[in-house]
Amino acid sequence: MSYTVTIEPTGHTFTVEPEQSILDAALRHGLVIPYSCRSGTCCTCMGKVVEGAVTYPGGQPPESLDDKELAVGQALFCMARPASDLAIEVREVREAADIPPRKMRCRVAHMERLSRDVMGLQLKLPDSERLAFLPGQYLDILLRDGRRRSYSLANAPHDDDLLALQVRHIEGGEFSEQVFHAMQEKALLRIEGPYGTFHIREEDDRPILMIAGSTGIAPLLSMLAHMIHTGDQRPVHLFWGVRSRQDLYMDDTLQAWERAHGPLQYTPCLSEPQPEDAWDGRIGLVHNMLLQDYPDLSRHAVYMSGPPAMIAAAQRDFARHGVEEQHFFRDAFEFAA
Ligand code: FES
Repeated sequence: MSYTVTIEPTGHTFTVEPEQSILDAALRHGLVIPYSCRSGTCCTCMGKVVEGAVTYPGGQPPESLDDKELAVGQALFCMARPASDLAIEVREVREAADIPPRKMRCRVAHMERLSRDVMGLQLKLPDSERLAFLPGQYLDILLRDGRRRSYSLANAPHDDDLLALQVRHIEGGEFSEQVFHAMQEKALLRIEGPYGTFHIREEDDRPILMIAGSTGIAPLLSMLAHMIHTGDQRPVHLFWGVRSRQDLYMDDTLQAWERAHGPLQYTPCLSEPQPEDAWDGRIGLVHNMLLQDYPDLSRHAVYMSGPPAMIAAAQRDFARHGVEEQHFFRDAFEFAA
């Protein structure tokens, strides 16, 4: 039998299916509460049961909860299952600052060539670990010499069995050369994250415009997957700019999402279509395409991810078209070498 859980003080509610933990159910409903190990040992997910009762697999609470904590109703939500409808008190993660970055080891579970110069990596953390993050954030790969390479997470937080990165090949770049020419599945990596304040603002009800250049699509994929999963009904129009048709490596996915999720509109734009592309879609700089369709940006929230020069040019032009600074979120990145 499923139960209803209400989080205090926000009043957010969600249902928990039989055998599902309270944390898993919250994440599936797009509500992030702090967590780390998801196995009852780190206590990051601790909160209070204010009304109702919980049970634990095996019938006993995890040993990491002491008697004093149990006596005042504390529970570990990664393990606890409701035994009735519940009211719980727990901090909800709404801001990037709510999730402290951590260093972790992981393995490369899958590698997939997404286009001529983009490799998809899927990273697997040890079974006892999970990375909590907000859709749109990034992590750092820690190299042996202490340097770092930053990549946005392309998966959504509810879908966190594997962490998805999109690595662009940079000629001579230490990490990207390794990814394209030496790395094998099962390789070990060290990562640190999550980082960044580029994440979807849940409390803002403005229609959303998203604009991505090249692999800047990765954080927007995370945001869109999250919005679709949570049934977010805000209108959202994504413009994705790349050079030629073969660079549209997520085109099929985005078209499928557009068909399945009514509020989503998707417009791919090519800056240098090749004759063999037989392209009859939009041609030009992607931010100019967006301005052709939306000359007045004063009522929109704009999320933009791409190289710094692209962001700088768009920023100047968008300001002339009324974008409000507090509703313009951008993630400017140099392609990590
Ligand atoms: Fe670690 Fe619950 S005890 S996430």
